[in-house]
Amino acid sequence: MQVVKYAFQQHGDERGQLIALEEYKDIPFEIKRVYYMYDTKDGVRRGYHAHKSLEQILVCINGTCKILLDNGNEKKVVTLESRCEGLYIPNNMWREMYDFSEDAVLMVLASNYYNEEDYIRNYDQFLDFISENESR
Ligand code: TYD
Repeated sequence: MQVVKYAFQQHGDERGQLIALEEYKDIPFEIKRVYYMYDTKDGVRRGYHAHKSLEQILVCINGTCKILLDNGNEKKVVTLESRCEGLYIPNNMWREMYDFSEDAVLMVLASNYYNEEDYIRNYDQFLDFISENESR
């Protein structure tokens, strides 16, 4: 499995740093939704789902966290510890987020609006969905 990370351009000067993210330029899709997680309690593991058609970029804009990616055949753990990089998560990818530092702010840019119908929240159903798609 290939882990795709985007290195964002920093517009730093003597005043400090600034990162700008534009759809189709810095982000490979139209950004329809932005959300962020913070104040994540100690020991919490969240996510536990895949999306049928959603694409996302995850940016840990403060602190650190880990992301488990699982495409049904292979698993990879990615540590997000830089606000200058974004982890691309395509559709059909199971993800779990954990080991959030106390100060972690995990921002997600998403290619579509929130739609519960697009979620696969059961791991066995995820494996079924993947194998149905592969056999097509
Ligand atoms: P949830 O899906 O449980 O988060 P995660 O998968 O990261 O553990 O979402 C938590 C709550 O927030 C749930 O009530 C749904 C709501 N929510 C929205 O209203 N809009 C959104 O874009 C997202 C991601 C969640």
